[in-house]
Amino acid sequence: MKNAMIDIQLSHRTIREFEPEQIHEETITTLMEVARRTATSNGMQSTSIIRITDPIVKRQIADICKQEYVFRAPVLFVFVADCYRNMRIARDKGCLEESAGDMDRFFQAVTDTCLAAQNVVNAAESLGLGALYLGSILNDAQNLIKVLKLPELTFPIVGLGLGTPNQNPALKPRLGNKFKVFENSYYCFDNYLESIKDYDEEMQTYYDLRNVNQRVDSFSNQIIAKLTTASPVRQDILNVIRSQGFILKLKEMQDIIG
Ligand SMILES: Cc1cc2nc3c(=O)[nH]c(=O)nc-3n(C[C@H](O)[C@H](O)[C@H](O)COP(=O)(O)O)c2cc1C
Repeated sequence: MKNAMIDIQLSHRTIREFEPEQIHEETITTLMEVARRTATSNGMQSTSIIRITDPIVKRQIADICKQEYVFRAPVLFVFVADCYRNMRIARDKGCLEESAGDMDRFFQAVTDTCLAAQNVVNAAESLGLGALYLGSILNDAQNLIKVLKLPELTFPIVGLGLGTPNQNPALKPRLGNKFKVFENSYYCFDNYLESIKDYDEEMQTYYDLRNVNQRVDSFSNQIIAKLTTASPVRQDILNVIRSQGFILKLKEMQDIIG
């Protein structure tokens, strides 16, 4: 069973190079309306979006990402988990906002933010635009927080570049759903390496346009490369989240409320 929307979702590819033209303001407004209408945990609407239009700020973000194509993306957003706004609403009502930044609120904000971002991506792709997620904004979360002047109880989750595609990448192979979709309970395979053999081979037929003449490594080799070289800057993320005022442990919460 398929329809036009599903066809678009099934042909998703990350786009990293765009035509230089800007997206119409009307389109941006529609995309932001899509974000606004996205489902939201508890109805809390704990997400905010920062559109980057100042080239100086864009340069700073591209430098944090260490990906030059970020600067070339015609439209750039940062999606922010936002518990600040509701904390302020409660405070303005004279309430003690004890749970404004606890772990539950934080994760609600993170899921709200991811859902809004993906809804925007789906809508953008349905309009023929290309989309580029940027987890690389977290290469220096502390600096990004400073650049974007993010207040307490906010945290940047993901960047998003949008524009008219100027490249036509191949579909990137994915693991089959037998590894990802289960019925009633989780299924652990006896031997993962053996089970994903075909997928490992399929991945090597894919060309990443970032290294044009070079096939990508097998999936298992990619996993090894990533899991054995933890990025030191990313190890500090939890501390940065805490320094934004989020309380991620029950004990910390108890210490505060006594
Ligand atoms: C949360 C998230 C963060 C990502 N961050 C980056 C990034 O910083 N830079 C980049 O070039 N691609 C980034 N990507 C794109 C992924 O590399 C891409 O989705 C993945 O390799 C699968 O390729 P495809 O989207 O073309 O199917 C990100 C994707 C997601 C979902």
